[in-house]
Amino acid sequence: MGFFSKDIKTLDDLFIHTLRDIYYAEKQIEKSLPKMIDKATDPQLKAGFEKHLTQTKGHIERVEQVFELHGVKAKTVNCPAIDGILEEADEVSGDVEDKEVLDAALIASAQAVEHYEITRYGTLIAWAKQLGRSDCANVLAKNLKEEEATDRKLTEIAESKVNLQAAE
Ligand SMILES: [Fe+2]
Ligand SMILES: [Fe+2]
Repeated sequence: MGFFSKDIKTLDDLFIHTLRDIYYAEKQIEKSLPKMIDKATDPQLKAGFEKHLTQTKGHIERVEQVFELHGVKAKTVNCPAIDGILEEADEVSGDVEDKEVLDAALIASAQAVEHYEITRYGTLIAWAKQLGRSDCANVLAKNLKEEEATDRKLTEIAESKVNLQAAE
């Protein structure tokens, strides 16, 4: 089903479609994070990725909870956007030899992922509220908060040391 498929008629259809999109994205992120943990050298970065893997498993569960609250089956739809971001992350990190430059590359890729999630959750929360589903919005807001905190943490790790070390 394409994004502009005629199967999407109402805002409610669009909400469900986008929920399935983020469900797919979270599952792909869950698969990709162990590779990023392996590649990271800086201990704080490695630990941050590990923490976010645990959080990501929680995000998947919360999205499942929203499907249930909304009374629709939890299923995924392909999301070429997140596939592209993750594919590029893999490609770039494969091309970096210096470990400290690699950490900088991993942070950049991870922040692209976080920003994707942030935009999706922001939209879903706005639509959930519009549809009178503040219960769904509240659950989604918990995921958004963790994505935003992760994004801020990555900026801090980059600016406080990883970028400096990479530039040496
Ligand atoms: Fe997430
Ligand atoms: Fe995330």
